[in-house]
Amino acid sequence: MKILIVGGGGREHALAWRLKQSPRVTSLVCAPGNPGMTRIARCIPIKAEDIEGQVRLAKDERPHLVIIGPEAPLAMGLADELRKADIPVFGPSAKAAQLESSKGFSKDMMKACGVPTAEYGRFTEAAAAKAFLDRFEAPYVLKADGLASGKGVVIAQTREEADQAVDDMLAGQFGDASRELVIEEFMKGEEASFFAFSDGETAIALAGAQDHKAVGEGDTGPNTGGMGAYSPAPILDQAMQERVMAEVVDPIIKGMAERGMPYLGVLYVGLMISPEGNPRVVEFNCRFGDPECQVIMARLKGEILPLMLACATGTGLKDCKRPARFEDPAVCVVLAAEGYPAKPRTGTVIRGVDKAEALGDDITVFHAGTTMRGDDLVSAGGRVLGVTARGDTITDAVKRAYEAVDAIDWPEGFCRRDIAWRALGKA
Ligand code: AMP
Ligand code: GLY
Repeated sequence: MKILIVGGGGREHALAWRLKQSPRVTSLVCAPGNPGMTRIARCIPIKAEDIEGQVRLAKDERPHLVIIGPEAPLAMGLADELRKADIPVFGPSAKAAQLESSKGFSKDMMKACGVPTAEYGRFTEAAAAKAFLDRFEAPYVLKADGLASGKGVVIAQTREEADQAVDDMLAGQFGDASRELVIEEFMKGEEASFFAFSDGETAIALAGAQDHKAVGEGDTGPNTGGMGAYSPAPILDQAMQERVMAEVVDPIIKGMAERGMPYLGVLYVGLMISPEGNPRVVEFNCRFGDPECQVIMARLKGEILPLMLACATGTGLKDCKRPARFEDPAVCVVLAAEGYPAKPRTGTVIRGVDKAEALGDDITVFHAGTTMRGDDLVSAGGRVLGVTARGDTITDAVKRAYEAVDAIDWPEGFCRRDIAWRALGKA
């Protein structure tokens, strides 16, 4: 089978790496891919957001399945265009992707489907937004309605900051994305990510993970796309996963289908588990998390392709008797370029990736913001490498991941040294 993967980050590298191990996959094409992916796939330099270019490529290549990694092309309707051309695709339509691309839509759906989440309001006028803030106490949560590369959320510690954020956001701080605001109740608890697959009607649980969004150790400093992740997440035990399927995933999948927007692909449920132990939804994403995908793919035992095909081709998940199986815990430590997230320094030389990978089969270094300059691997983005390790225990996986990190020679890079601290505390 020929598979086309759209995207070129750590998430897409991890998907490509896992699919490459399937005996059914005879040809793997990635667009645009990255230097790590060129070792296992044919990479074509077409940007993920270049919808016309991606459709043209898919029509030329005629893959058996297209997997769309990032949210932007999904929100722009790439899956719709491919389905029009009769090309099987794993990923939701633009309408279904609104669960991520419009926070207001997403909250309205949660409310309509009875999914537990924070109380909220939607606003385009500053006066009404500020009046709504009166209902809450600090900290205040304000969100740009649209996609803002993970930066559209402001947690204001004082009322003055919150009022200022209302003005800034409505004045276009996040461009069109913040023409509308969602203001919501602050939820206390522990965050975790849960992933489920759906064919539009039936959903199955995949796995849980936790990531570290803050750039600094002890979860301090500005938020990033994620500085590391681990799976499984101790807080998402079997009983909690069953609750999340019953209270969140199943009602949303049913609600989307009933409204003529069946959701097909992976649903990423961002959760807050309350101190009393109840799951509530922080957000939905219409794709795998990154770096969460790296640890989930590292842990996966057996094949993921049949499940993706069942979602994409209408053979149906209800006929898939066997859900995905997972083994040992995995940890991913992100190596980022100095200056990240504000102003990452690009063009610096990275050595020793091969040394890190030579440490063992339990270690894989996934590429994200890298490029080749002659024979040198150089940084080309904020999050640059995802150093991913498996271990018999979470403690082992952490140790192996940092051994691999230490084998990489990149003075202009940095990582957090405390990835998985929460899980280690419970180990
Ligand atoms: P989001 O992009 O919606 O996931 O928000 C980014 C981050 O802000 C989340 O990962 C949470 O840490 C935090 N956050 C968002 N909404 C809330 C909320 N209602 N209560 C507490 N924290 C939140
Ligand atoms: N790691 C968080 C995300 O992918 O949105």
